[in-house]
Amino acid sequence: MQLVFATNNLHKLSEITAIIDNKFSILGLKDIKCFEEISETKETLIGNALEKAEFVYNKYGYNCFADDTGLEIASLDGRPGVYSARYAGENVNFENNMNKVLAEMQTIEKREACFKTVIALIINGDKYFFEGEVNGVILREKRGIKGFGYDPIFMPVGYNLSFAELSAEEKNKISHRGIATKKLIAFLQKLK
Ligand code: IMP
Repeated sequence: MQLVFATNNLHKLSEITAIIDNKFSILGLKDIKCFEEISETKETLIGNALEKAEFVYNKYGYNCFADDTGLEIASLDGRPGVYSARYAGENVNFENNMNKVLAEMQTIEKREACFKTVIALIINGDKYFFEGEVNGVILREKRGIKGFGYDPIFMPVGYNLSFAELSAEEKNKISHRGIATKKLIAFLQKLK
């Protein structure tokens, strides 16, 4: 079965291709000649994931899945949350976003945070959702150089290392996206 992963992130694409049964052929957006920006206009992770998957399903006619992730920090009332990619503004980079979080939390002792991923899957018009979460704390300074996004300032519960100090393999085992992806794969493997 051909399935489109509505992402331009090659890292995410190769991650799933490596672990999914070869009865599935995973295509990226470029493979289906979708070069346009897919908008994320909703105020929830589930809304954005579904918006992206529906865009591809409706316009290109492929069975498809899409993901959306947010970092929720309790002391910041759940921010950056669904706005994680552009927390410090439009056209910002990961450093800008992390610096904003660190500045806002400078005097805050309560540092619990949670990464959440939602994957929306559409097969022949039917919709399915898969979620993954990982709890942790926001560090006081950046640590490590691996990974991406907020990894240098997030330390998962039970670890003494930030996400950016863990190998990709170790991170995938416990990460929000790793958990959601495993649920998606378990579901797909059961399909005929
Ligand atoms: P996306 O929905 O996967 O594009 O994620 C939205 C934003 O959340 C990204 O731009 C990153 O800033 C952040 N993010 C997503 N996944 C991770 C992760 O595994 N580690 C650190 N930051 C992440």
